[in-house]
Amino acid sequence: MANNSVTTQPPPGHPPRKGLFRYIAIFLLSIIVIVGVAVLIIWWIVKPKQLVYTIEDASIHNYNLTGNSRLNSTFDFNIRAYNPNGRASIDYDSIEVSAEYENQNIAFTTLEPFQQPTRNVTHLEANLVAQNIALPKSISNDLRRDKSKGEIDLDVRLKAKIRFKVGLWKSDHRTMRIICSPVTIHFSSSKNFERTECEIDI
Ligand SMILES: *[C@@H]1O[C@H](CO)[C@@H](O)[C@H](O)[C@H]1NC(C)=O
Ligand SMILES: *[C@@H]1O[C@H](CO)[C@@H](O)[C@H](O)[C@H]1NC(C)=O
Ligand SMILES: *[C@@H]1O[C@H](CO)[C@@H](O)[C@H](O)[C@H]1NC(C)=O
Repeated sequence: MANNSVTTQPPPGHPPRKGLFRYIAIFLLSIIVIVGVAVLIIWWIVKPKQLVYTIEDASIHNYNLTGNSRLNSTFDFNIRAYNPNGRASIDYDSIEVSAEYENQNIAFTTLEPFQQPTRNVTHLEANLVAQNIALPKSISNDLRRDKSKGEIDLDVRLKAKIRFKVGLWKSDHRTMRIICSPVTIHFSSSKNFERTECEIDI
């Protein structure tokens, strides 16, 4: 009995340190809780939402594929960019748009930098140029076949350097990649274009 009562007593000289550890533990715990609550509040205020991209229209002009598989053409796309965020606006610092046919890059352009306000829809006109592109024989054969059918399927890719802005705060630059696939374009302008939804990877 006597022994037990001795061991439950704090060893002499140690109580102050034990108290110190407890204060440090409480202090660290409070900091974790405060940071956690702050992150939650910021998240709740900003409520980041994924951007929405669709291709609303597309057309082909000046198409010319020669016998030796060289392609000249322009591909025009109307790209709808929607920022659903109520607090975050977006700086687009550079935008590259390319079109692929059967995984072969055939046309390219860059777009002007722009700023997109909150809850904003912006329509981007992208006129992609294929100038004297040398194509592998198999691809030019498929292109010829599709031309005679009256429509081709392209993958449209966007690569943009963007920054989010919330009030005075600006995020780092990050690269946003967008793929819209397949975009079916009719050679005849009388055919209706079917809107294509895009996938976004930030
Ligand atoms: C296509 O280009 C070739 C060589 O530039 C030209 O001879 C031909 O007339 C063009 N075809 C059309 C339909 O524009
Ligand atoms: C979207 O923002 C642009 C400016 O970047 C503005 O010209 C356009 O009118 C805005 N559109 C809507 C629907 O608010
Ligand atoms: C494509 O355009 C280039 C210059 O713009 C021209 O030299 C070439 O002949 C054209 N090729 C075709 C197939 O039209």
